[in-house]
Amino acid sequence: MPAQHNLHLLPQTSQLRALHTVVRDRHAGLDAFVLHSRRIIRLLLEAGLDQLPFTEHHVTTPVGATYRGLRHTADVCAVAVVRAGESMEAELRDIHPGIRIGKILIQRDKQTKLPHLYYSHLPPGIADSHVLLLEPMLATGGSANAAIDVLLKAGVREEHIVLIDFIAAPEGIRAVTEAHPHVRIVVSSIEERLNDNAFMVPGIGDFGDRYFGTTDPGA
Ligand code: PRP
Repeated sequence: MPAQHNLHLLPQTSQLRALHTVVRDRHAGLDAFVLHSRRIIRLLLEAGLDQLPFTEHHVTTPVGATYRGLRHTADVCAVAVVRAGESMEAELRDIHPGIRIGKILIQRDKQTKLPHLYYSHLPPGIADSHVLLLEPMLATGGSANAAIDVLLKAGVREEHIVLIDFIAAPEGIRAVTEAHPHVRIVVSSIEERLNDNAFMVPGIGDFGDRYFGTTDPGA
């Protein structure tokens, strides 16, 4: 995978790999999967917020000294790609309780693997906002590109979009960066490849089904 300046991979620390080890395990129970996914999601969201613009902001500390700090300058909202993207909303609300969250319903066709857009409801004034686009799985990149197109159509600037992915395939990263080179991507792991079913390898399975407990045990 060539170096791409808009691609931000979380530091591959032992701690992050330990969290991934729990959620990658096909035998992980729902409670363990949710708990450890949420810990990774928190890291992703903090890294995503780091992509927004800052300005200098000085405060006086309790000992009377000056701390030369920073604060965000931009309006920010989030848009979750339903369904899996909704898994990131609770952590985001913990960090940023007042954030406005839009929804885009895109489902990947089980046979063709192509995304189908069913519905979108975006916060008013989104064209002037920076947007955290919550889409945990970047496999072929079709769903993410379709969601980005919805945001662009609503007037959001491409360079104001931060795509938050739990894991991503090289194919998906390439698809998004070629179609939308100014979108920033924050991801906790880059996978080896896609398999013949357009699932990531080693991957995590169907994140939406595993997070919401809707995996069909007979499938
Ligand atoms: C999955 C996943 C992404 C999409 C990624 O969604 O949650 O939205 O596929 O694949 P792509 O990069 O090849 O488009 P799915 O349609 O299975 O719906 P879900 O969120 O309900 O699981």
